[in-house]
Amino acid sequence: MDLRWYVANWKMYLSSIEEEAFVSENRQDLIRLADEKNIVLCPSYLGIGLIRGKGEKNISLGAQDCSEEDKGAHTGQISAESLSDIAVDFVIVGHSERRQKYFETDEIISKKIAAAWKAELTPILCVGESKEQFDKQESFSYVTEQLTVLDLALTMMQEEKRYPCFVAYEPLFSIGTGVVAPHDHIKLMLALIDEKTPHSSMAKGLSCSITKLYGGSVNASNSGKLKKIPGVEGFLIGKSSINFAEFKKIIDT
Ligand code: PGA
Repeated sequence: MDLRWYVANWKMYLSSIEEEAFVSENRQDLIRLADEKNIVLCPSYLGIGLIRGKGEKNISLGAQDCSEEDKGAHTGQISAESLSDIAVDFVIVGHSERRQKYFETDEIISKKIAAAWKAELTPILCVGESKEQFDKQESFSYVTEQLTVLDLALTMMQEEKRYPCFVAYEPLFSIGTGVVAPHDHIKLMLALIDEKTPHSSMAKGLSCSITKLYGGSVNASNSGKLKKIPGVEGFLIGKSSINFAEFKKIIDT
C-alpha cells in the first residue's frame, strides 16, 4: 500500500466556487482515492467554508495559513482554533510565498506552529533555499537555521508529548518553475530534516514526529521518479493539483 501523502496547495488559483466545484464534481473519485492514499486538499479559507458548509465531511482539508495569535484584535486574521472548529486537520506554515511577499519571520512561523499544535492541527512547515544559496552550497546551513522554528515552537508548549509536524522541502527555484532540484540533493536535504528536527527533545520531554514531503514542480511526468527518492513520504503539490486528472495521475503513477 502507498502510504505517501499527497497535499494539494491550491494557493489562490481558484475562486472559492471553483474549489467547491472541484470537490463536488470529483467527490466519488476523491473518496475512493482517499480510501487507499493520504490526500489533503488545501483550498482558500472561503473554499474550506463552502466545502464543509455543504456537508462534505469525508475529504481531508488543510488551510494555507493561520494566525500566530490565539484570539483578539487581529483584523483579517483566522485562528487555528477556528480552522479546527470546522474540521480542518492541517495548516501550511512558512510557505516561501508568505515568507517573501508577506515578510513572515521565523519567530512568527514558530508561533504559528505552536498555535496549530494548541488547536490540534498538524502544521506543514515549508523550508527551502534559494538558487543563489544552492549555488554557493549554503543549502544545509540555511535549512538547518529554518528548522530551528520547531525547537522554538516546542518551547511554547506545555504538555509533554510528541507533536506531529510535516516538513515540506521546497527549494525556491523549483516552486512554479518546472525545474526540479537534483534528486541526490533532495535525498540529502530530507536526511538533513530528519537529523535536525527535535525527534526527542529538550528538557521538558517534548518532541516532534516528522513526516517529510517534497514540493516544487511536482507533476504527473516526474512524480514516479520523485517517489523513489529515499525519504520522500509525500508531496506538496501546487499548480498540478488544480487539475483533477493531473492530480490523480500524480497519485496513481
Ligand atoms: P508548485 O508549487 O507545485 O506549483 O511548484 C508547490 C508549492 O508552492 O507548494
